Amino acid sequence: MGVEVVVDGLTKSFGKQTIWRDVTLTLPPGEVSVMLGPSGTGKSVFLKSLVGLLKPERGRITINGTDLVRCSEHKLYEIRKLFGVLFQDGALFGSMNLFDNVAFPLREHTRKTEAEVRRIVLEKMEMVGLVGAEKKLPGEISGGMRKRAGLARALVLDPEIILCDEPDSGLDPVRTAYLSQLLIDLNSQIDATILIVTHNITVARTVPDNLGMLFRRELVMFGPREVLLTSDEPVVEQFLNGRRLGPIGMSEEKDQATMAAELAHKEAGHSDGSPDADVRGVVPQLEPTPGLPPRGAVRRRKDRVMSIIHTLPPDAQQGIIASLTPDEQRHYQVSAGVGPDTATVPDTTRHTPSPWPRQGGVL
Ligand SMILES: Nc1ncnc2c1ncn2[C@@H]1O[C@H](COP(=O)(O)OP(=O)(O)O)[C@@H](O)[C@H]1O
Ligand SMILES: [Mg+2]
Repeated sequence: MGVEVVVDGLTKSFGKQTIWRDVTLTLPPGEVSVMLGPSGTGKSVFLKSLVGLLKPERGRITINGTDLVRCSEHKLYEIRKLFGVLFQDGALFGSMNLFDNVAFPLREHTRKTEAEVRRIVLEKMEMVGLVGAEKKLPGEISGGMRKRAGLARALVLDPEIILCDEPDSGLDPVRTAYLSQLLIDLNSQIDATILIVTHNITVARTVPDNLGMLFRRELVMFGPREVLLTSDEPVVEQFLNGRRLGPIGMSEEKDQATMAAELAHKEAGHSDGSPDADVRGVVPQLEPTPGLPPRGAVRRRKDRVMSIIHTLPPDAQQGIIASLTPDEQRHYQVSAGVGPDTATVPDTTRHTPSPWPRQGGVL
């Protein structure tokens, strides 16, 4: 099973430029999480920090009891073997065919025989749907195939943590849907902890168990998907609806005067260019392709989320309860109602003035 990744008070700067500060979150073992954020908010820097390629100035990243930020080079090398990373550009070697690209980590980091290498490479290429493409060069195939080859290469060392940097970038909506399904299928087959960085709204809505968002050099929120999908925190709502109206501007941040003017314009009945009026809410999550085992994370996550449900906002509570089967509702002793008022779960967040939660540490 995948391992837990605990990020605590992480801050990363380049010279005087702080990329993000005080990021605190936990990637639960075997669950799929998505980190959202506008371009340039430091999502790639976050992934590279997790895998030890960049060194944050402050905070901890704890995996199996080891703090990656401060451990020895030797220990870091050991921990890195737990990771499979799909970089934003696929990072394939242009002069090597797909077989050799996928085989590369095995030849580099293990002493497996060529027969074993071949068996593993073909197995992973089959998992990502690339059978028959072994001899192709990266330049001869589509962007979607390159992503899948990058993913196959990330899988060959049997990672317990998989990091994907914008797996959907450059893909059309159909290819993106296939890739989303592939990630869920992989999770059902190997139960690895997965973190996907993206700014794709559809991926964010349908793929992960947990959602987070980086904005203005901070982690705005991180928690169960139901919390962000029902959130009325302006940054999160604007982003998940792809709207111009809101705090996120063309070059990241808007000033107050612009926001007020836009709001007045919208209230006067003008469109702000968003695709739908409002698509806030919990949409069904992707399930593994029929025939594959159920995702191990689903059961664990239900126990985990139900143990903290009383700390979540009412809409998120409703979304979670509505996703349970009648048997599960009996098991957890909750019942689905028509509105938050009828939930039998104690509501402790209703009168909390600050948006929930600024930092998702315990979630
Ligand atoms: N190695 C680096 N040295 C200096 N600045 C960097 C480095 N890598 C990234 N940055 C800066 O960090 C910021 C966040 O970049 P990035 O993580 O790539 O954003 P995102 O992936 O969210 O689009 C950018 O302003 C970028 O210029
Ligand atoms: Mg990036």
